[in-house]
Amino acid sequence: MSGKNPDDLLAANLARWEEQVDIHVGSGFYRVKEFKAGETSLDPLILAEIGDVAGKRLLHLQCHFGLDTLSFARLGAVATGLDFSPKAIAEARKLAAETGLDARFVEARVDEATAKAGTGYDIVFSSWGVLMWLPDLEVWARNIAACLKPGGFFYLAEGHPLLWTLDDEEATVEKNFRIVRSYFLEGPQQWDNARDYAEPEVTLTHFRSNEWQHTLGEVVTVLAAAGLRIEFLHEHDRLVWPAVPGMTRADTHYFRAPEGAPRLPLSYSLKARRE
Ligand SMILES: C[S@@+](CC[C@H](N)C(=O)[O-])C[C@H]1O[C@@H](n2cnc3c(N)ncnc32)[C@H](O)[C@@H]1O
Repeated sequence: MSGKNPDDLLAANLARWEEQVDIHVGSGFYRVKEFKAGETSLDPLILAEIGDVAGKRLLHLQCHFGLDTLSFARLGAVATGLDFSPKAIAEARKLAAETGLDARFVEARVDEATAKAGTGYDIVFSSWGVLMWLPDLEVWARNIAACLKPGGFFYLAEGHPLLWTLDDEEATVEKNFRIVRSYFLEGPQQWDNARDYAEPEVTLTHFRSNEWQHTLGEVVTVLAAAGLRIEFLHEHDRLVWPAVPGMTRADTHYFRAPEGAPRLPLSYSLKARRE
């Protein structure tokens, strides 16, 4: 890990996430007002692929301030959200109280999931902007497998690792969808970016983040090694945030590549079942 202490790297990430919570709760991006009025925060891809969650014990890893966890609770799931940000967990509990939705929130790192959130879940769920924060995917996969009961499944929707290779600086379509970085990158990658993805006009004090690139092959392999059988791995040409400048809105939920750009996989979704 480039001689850096992993705890220090995660502490820097945590400081950034702590700063982002209040910004996100008040942002148009997260649509908290609409959620409070009864809308789901879950996008149609997830809703269609995860199926009926009513009555299921569901663990949401990296739940941020709990919108998706509470949306699952609204659909009848017995939901638990886990995140390492104390502020995010406090906001999630506040949101649960305000909406009268019943969900449990656990403050913990992903590598502590089994110990702190327990086992016997029907579904473990995680989505959109999660894997790059994790230094060790083997530990992640082992925790998922241990949290699931036999026959239970893991569902993931995530930005495609190909996104990392694309030019995110240039502002013209011809350049944006051009490969400028390696697909195979050793972590941690240190990024200095003071722009918040949900509120781009806000300047973050904690501008540094430490991120780990995980290839699609690595994701599938660690899950299989942990005893999960892959049921599907779907690649999509849309994504819930405009990761590359020039991406345009496809509809209320997704962004896609601009007209004329090559049609590349921008996200993927995966379901894997514990045998
Ligand atoms: C992009 S957000 C979660 C995605 C969710 N779809 C959303 O947008 O609300 C990433 C979350 O991961 C959490 N996180 C980052 N590293 C973590 C770790 N090692 N353990 C637990 N949570 C972590 C952050 O606090 C943040 O809430």
